[in-house]
This record gives sequence, structure tokens and C-alpha cells, in this order.
Amino acid sequence: MIIIRGGRPLSGRVEISGAKNAALPAIVASLLIPEPLVLKRVPRLLDVETQLALVEALGKQVERWGDVITIRGEAKIATAPREIVSRMRASFLCLGPLLARLGEAHVPLPGGCVIGARPVDLHLSGLERLGAKIQVDEGVVHARGKLHGGEVWLRYPSVGATEQLLLAGATIPTRVEIVNPAREPEVMDLGRLLASMGAEVEVLEDRIVIRGGGLHGTEHEVIPDRIEAGTYLLAGAITGGEVELMDVCPEHLTALIAELEGCGVAVRCGENAISVLARENWLGAEVETAPYPGFPTDLQPQLTAFLTLARGRSIIWERVFESRFGHVGELLRMGARITLQGQAIIVEGVEELRGTEVVATDIRAGAALVLAGLAARGETRVKGLEHLLRGYENVEEKLVGLGANAWLEETSAT
Ligand code: UD1
Repeated sequence: MIIIRGGRPLSGRVEISGAKNAALPAIVASLLIPEPLVLKRVPRLLDVETQLALVEALGKQVERWGDVITIRGEAKIATAPREIVSRMRASFLCLGPLLARLGEAHVPLPGGCVIGARPVDLHLSGLERLGAKIQVDEGVVHARGKLHGGEVWLRYPSVGATEQLLLAGATIPTRVEIVNPAREPEVMDLGRLLASMGAEVEVLEDRIVIRGGGLHGTEHEVIPDRIEAGTYLLAGAITGGEVELMDVCPEHLTALIAELEGCGVAVRCGENAISVLARENWLGAEVETAPYPGFPTDLQPQLTAFLTLARGRSIIWERVFESRFGHVGELLRMGARITLQGQAIIVEGVEELRGTEVVATDIRAGAALVLAGLAARGETRVKGLEHLLRGYENVEEKLVGLGANAWLEETSAT
């Protein structure tokens, strides 16, 4: 668990790591080529280790030097181990690349998770449009066939489905057009990586066009983690502190910065830095999560924590996942006043939160509870640490570096 003695304003600088959600598809892209793929600024996180274990299980060799990872060798195995895919949804991205390279792929369904049902129908129908023959049998997706170009319309701009189709498209010498694609910075980063591996990638107003074939090894630096960055911005804000983020892309955080400014928090952006200068008594907000460039669902729990201490009422509409509310019950136990009405989280600001023992149900719920703990009176013990460590590199060091009184403690049930 992580233990926090709250009530100290955070201050200082924090370096932001490479983006987990950009590193995960980039690691899968290594399946497309036998030559070395060198990825830089790869964060040390459980999810990254899981994705590396997946490509190793499929025949690749992995070497790590600090935050640089080299992946090489032929992907020879068409069956993804259930034990790995069941740990993390992003491992399902290996379906398209394995099919393209080996002519067949057998990947277990990633299953639901605590934030919603999270189906993969768009991944499967998209690959079918490109020529895959797909059968789902006893929870395993079996894909066969030779892929060809075509137009795929996504009824929702799913991040994972867009990435799946980009990865497959990079191997197809005729045009693949993804209409209504996701435009998250992590998707664009995958597009840049595939382009530097030799694919032609064009991002147009309503579609992404990719023409592949002739891929080769390359080097690629992963973009900064905008969700980690947003979490530390909110940590500065909720403690009434002064925090500067280093090595970030401010334009990836436009939606959060606008909300913070609307609440009366001063935010200053430099070229690769953002600083937050908080004051007490911030205002509430009305926010709805949406695909990029809208407000990211991955910052909704942390924003909810911040708004529990705002003046007046806030409403946060969760529009991306149907049940991303695992943090709400735990925040209530810390003294927050929140009600759920359908997809709306209605928050009445309170004067203070009180530390207690709470449980993280997923990565971002864990982050929200840490933020609440940093601002709360007394000691907060956040259990379910393994969730937090899936998404936040060196979280203890980074928080302590900003002056937090926080430490990790081993327990039999973290
Ligand atoms: C990715 C991110 C996750 C983030 C999410 C939305 C990674 C590893 N994870 O997840 O952190 O919260 O984007 O920004 O990058 N959907 C379908 N059918 C599909 C696929 C998705 O209905 O085939 C629905 C989902 O149930 C969900 C919505 O689309 O309601 C968004 O999901 P998607 O954009 O695919 O998210 P992920 O790629 O799973």
C-alpha cells in the first residue's frame, strides 16, 4: 500500500515519464519486423513488463538499458498466452500484427474490467473488412487469411481499434483508410513510429490513411505521458502548491488546463514545461469526458478528487466508460460529498477530506485516492498498490521529491 500524511502543499519540479499508452502499442509494433526496434523513454511499469513478456512469448528477444528497449527477432508463435492477455487489455493489439506476419493468430479475448464492459467488436469487424476470417471459440479469437486494403468506418473512435488497424495496415501494400479514427496523441505517436518503420501514414480531417509494406527497423522516442503529467498538475492544485512539470507536451493537456483555469487555478505553459500555481478556494466545474481533444476519461477520477474540495457544486459526466466510478465510494469514506446519477458524478465541495484506509480498484482510481490523501487531514492508506504501479513510474520518489510525506509499505495484501 501507499501511505500518505496529507495537508502539505507540494512544491518543486517533477520529470514526466514516457507515455505508457504509447509504449504499449509501440512494443507490439516490433512484431511486424525481424530487425531491431529501439524504443527510447520507455517507462518502467508493470504494464510495460507485461507487454514485453507478451512479445517474448511470441518469439522476440528483448533487451533493456535504462529507459531504452531494443526488441529484435522473428515473431514465430501465433498463439498469445491467455495468462498474459488476461492481465492487460492492450496485449490484444498483437492480433493484427500476428495475423499479418504469420497468416494466422490465436488471441484470447481480453475480457471485461472494472471500468466497463470494453468489448473488442470494432477491432474484429475492422480486421474482417481487411480480409481476416475471424472465429471466436471458447473465449479465444482465431484469425486467418490474407489482409488487403480497404475502408473501415469506426462507429466510435476507439483508441485500441484504431491502433489495431494501423498496425495491420502497416503491413498491407494497398491503402487502408480508417474513417472516424481516434486522434489521441498516443495513436498519432504509433502513426509516427509506423512511418519511421517505412509505412506511409497520412492524417486527414475525417480519416487516417496508411499504406504499408517494406517495413524495417528503426529508433523511436515515446511521447511524454499526458495522464501522468495531468495527475501531477492536479496534485499541485489539490494541495494548494506550486508544481512544475518538466519534459511534457502542454498541447496534449489543453482540456485539463482549461478546466483548471476555469476553476481559478493559475497554469503557465512553456515549450516543454507546465507549472501550476494553486490557491485555496477553487471553483467547481462542469466537465464531460470525450475522445481527444476532449477531456480524457483517464483523468476523470483525479479531477473528481480535486473537485471534492472546490467551492460549490460540480458535475462530471463520464461518457467514455459506463462504470468508471470505482473511486467514488472510497472518496465518500474520506468525507467527500458525491452522488452518482447515471453517468453523472455530482460533487458538492466540502471544507476538508479525512485520511482513512481506502482501496484502489484500477490505475486512475488509485491516482485519485493518492491526490485525495495528499490533501486530506491525517493519514491515508491506499491499498491496491499494484494498480497504481501499472501506470505511475517511481511514484514514491516523485511525490517525495515534491515534498509529500508518502511512502510505500509491503503488506500481504497490498
Ligand atoms: C485506451 C487507453 C485507456 C483509455 C481509453 C480511452 C491504452 C492502453 N488504454 O483504452 O487508458 O481510457 O483508450 O481514452 O491505450 N469500444 C467498443 N468496441 C471496441 C473497442 C472499444 O465498444 O471494439 C468502446 C469501449 O467499450 C469504450 C470506448 O469504446 O466505451 C473507448 O474505448 P477505447 O477507446 O477502445 O479504449 P482502449 O483502447 O481500451
